[in-house]
Amino acid sequence: MIRRIAVLAGDGIGPEVMDAALKVLRRVDERFKLSFEFKEALIGGAAFEKYSAHFPEETRKICSESDAILFGSVGGPISEAHLEKWRGCESNSILALRKALGLFANLRPIKVYPELRAISPIKGEVIGEGIDILIVRELAGDIYFGEHRTFEKSGCRYATDLAEYDENQIAAIGRVAFETARSRRKKVTSVDKANVLATSKLWRGVIKEISQEFSEIEYEDMLVDNCAMQIIRRPSDFDVIVTSNMFGDILSDAAAVLPGSLGLTPSASLNAERFGLYEPSGGSAPDIAGRGVANPIAQILSAALLLRFSFGLEKEALSIEDAVYRAIAGSARTVDIAVEGESALSTAEFTDKVLSHI
Ligand code: IPM
Ligand code: MG
Repeated sequence: MIRRIAVLAGDGIGPEVMDAALKVLRRVDERFKLSFEFKEALIGGAAFEKYSAHFPEETRKICSESDAILFGSVGGPISEAHLEKWRGCESNSILALRKALGLFANLRPIKVYPELRAISPIKGEVIGEGIDILIVRELAGDIYFGEHRTFEKSGCRYATDLAEYDENQIAAIGRVAFETARSRRKKVTSVDKANVLATSKLWRGVIKEISQEFSEIEYEDMLVDNCAMQIIRRPSDFDVIVTSNMFGDILSDAAAVLPGSLGLTPSASLNAERFGLYEPSGGSAPDIAGRGVANPIAQILSAALLLRFSFGLEKEALSIEDAVYRAIAGSARTVDIAVEGESALSTAEFTDKVLSHI
């Protein structure tokens, strides 16, 4: 059985870290005989140069003919923000892909490796036995996809953004969260702003109903402002957090700083058929692009999530996660995760360390 993977490296450090992830996937393919077939396509600024579009038809076609998508990152440097190439680049690429493919469930695992305790901005006693949070963010609704308007009334400029949810959307993401919690520590925290917003009141009601289908899972509600505080104060108390698109965007960035580098956290975006797009949570880091020093971990771990969620290859996914862990435990560091006295490896050298454990 051939497994077709669309490879969208994108901009900035995207191509460098993608290269690392592909090396790892090829090694896993050799070892477990999985018949991967990779097809590269352009996205973001890289696509704009050739097609004058951030998400061209050609790329759309390659994605729709694939079994899963491995995505790098898109976006350019601030100093070039005025160029047409970068205008709307992130939303034209990422939001368009999410919409075109119906990706409604975004899973962002946040793990603090005990070996990397020193780079976490959180104190050792707060990290405790470790931090392992899974943020399940609704990705297809909310204020992101409601009507956006800018207008003028009586000489005054106005803007409105409509936040919308229907109960089916909420139930669908709720089920993803509770089902995923079954194979974890069996706790779901649903985050909303039900003291103010109508969408959040509906959210809370529906999630509560869904929770009754999962009696073995511990369930709590939390207001988003409180959650922002608790995620920093007592992060190890969280297991699965399920929340709406906008709150998930913000909370996942807050949580992503806990491990100490944005280069560590992968993500998965799935549709109803479990077709998925997998990408690092961090950005394109144009400041370090092209220097061969970017941390490939988030991209490599995104490839592991691809094997797990799109292909059901749990053992193979674990072999990648375990190899990354062993590389770290064996003191391999890229520059973003090295502390004083530790020498930093290049992207390629670090990747070789990971490969040596597969
Ligand atoms: C993310 C990003 C996107 C989002 C942007 C680039 C549109 O911040 O994936 O979290 O807001 O969803
Ligand atoms: Mg974001």
